[in-house]
Amino acid sequence: LPRDLFGPERRNSPGLAFGDGAALRRWTDAVARAAGPADAAPILDGAVQTGRARPVVSPIDGAALGSVIEADPATAALAMEAAVRGFPSWAATPARERAACLERAADAFVREQGRLLHLLQAEAGKTLDDAVAEWREAIDFLRYYAAQGRDLFGEPQDLPGPAGEANSLRLVGRGVFVAVSPWNFPLAIFTGQVAAALMAGNAVVAKPAPQTPLVADFAVRLLHAAGIPGSALHLVPGGPETGAALIEHPALSGVVFTGSTATAQRINRALAARDGAILPLIAETGGINAMIVDATALPEQVADDVVVSAFRSAGQRCSALRLLLVQEDVADRMIAAVAGAARELAVGDPRDLATDLGPVIDAGAKQRLDAHIAAMTASARLHYAGAAPGGLTVAPHIFEIGGVADLREEVFGPILHVARYPADGLGSVIAAIRAGGYGLTLGIHSRIEETAERIAEALPHGNVYVNRNMIGAVVGSQPFGGSGLSGTGPKAGGPHYLARFATERTLTVNT
Ligand code: SER
Repeated sequence: LPRDLFGPERRNSPGLAFGDGAALRRWTDAVARAAGPADAAPILDGAVQTGRARPVVSPIDGAALGSVIEADPATAALAMEAAVRGFPSWAATPARERAACLERAADAFVREQGRLLHLLQAEAGKTLDDAVAEWREAIDFLRYYAAQGRDLFGEPQDLPGPAGEANSLRLVGRGVFVAVSPWNFPLAIFTGQVAAALMAGNAVVAKPAPQTPLVADFAVRLLHAAGIPGSALHLVPGGPETGAALIEHPALSGVVFTGSTATAQRINRALAARDGAILPLIAETGGINAMIVDATALPEQVADDVVVSAFRSAGQRCSALRLLLVQEDVADRMIAAVAGAARELAVGDPRDLATDLGPVIDAGAKQRLDAHIAAMTASARLHYAGAAPGGLTVAPHIFEIGGVADLREEVFGPILHVARYPADGLGSVIAAIRAGGYGLTLGIHSRIEETAERIAEALPHGNVYVNRNMIGAVVGSQPFGGSGLSGTGPKAGGPHYLARFATERTLTVNT
């Protein structure tokens, strides 16, 4: 593999130095100027479809942002059929041209910074910090997959053989890929899935999460304007019914999905129940992510890293820390340090630069989190409860539970669970985490190298972070994705992702 997977010219998107007041003001001005109504609708063959619209409101304050026309199952089927027709010419487009489209789209994402950041804030309730990080990741995905795909899907690779025989291998698109993306990274994950599937030569039907169609619609318009043909990329906003119509359609060639483990399992069952071709599913799902802190860890660093990992983005990251496991000798001190740091968090309107946690995504999410807080308040020891100003905000909480086995479900919000383990209990902690079956992110805080290595070796987690926070994987540096209940791999933003979207063909010619 080449060392620099972005190619010689390309680097990760630079983003914004928040310490530079003048630059920050330029960005916030650009975001404010870009505000204004937005709409989303099915886009088939480049044509915006009509139908009955429902309003899209902001999780920040319930303000009307615009409207979405969702694709009913019949429209979803039409999108699949349009993609079947679009596939041959896109697959025949040289890889360097497909890559150039993605790179032009990356440049467009840079130019449309204000509008994209506005939509991420308004529609997904993100702080500017989170919106910028996500926007950068989307740009990185476009450039990274373009740089890799240019080589991977370019010339066939010559392979050895006996005299008189010419062998070669090439990668080609599978056909129609369905991309189903989540609301928590409505730009980066949406764009990453679509870019990878397109780069590999597939036609794509993309279904964004029902909570965040507006930013997806805008992204598709930018991708089309960058040269991706309407016949190769189709947008179908909608919910589970729309998704089911796509997954059950006979023209399907593969699915890339990010979301809950339960939904990935449903998709997997639906694919298995089909007659005919055996189809790939690339799934990135949830986790009950733990951080193990031993007695040698530095309390100030732990406090900082735990607060970022558990509470940034209001805990709405699949990478977020859910369960902090602290060696009992230092537990009181560590928990007090974490609670002290959590006390500094400001919960409120994410457009205010002083806010650390904005709202959760919708009323259903808030209800589930409130119910979990109520159940924990009745059964666990409360170490910290922050304050939240109302609306869809949820105050950060820290609860102590008995052990790993007491947390059975991913709780997707700003709620941290803590448990203690005895000095000689690391083996049992590792065994209990393994038994849970998830394997997404894992944090380790220890100044003993052997301890960190032992834990990392013993657990199957896809992304292990030692002596730092455990969120915010960077494209090309921290390829992201888990194993077991947390997903199938390959990792997004890593060197093995694109190939999974393709099939391989070997050609042997007797010369
Ligand atoms: N890629 C994201 C992160 O690393 C996933 O939630 O935080």
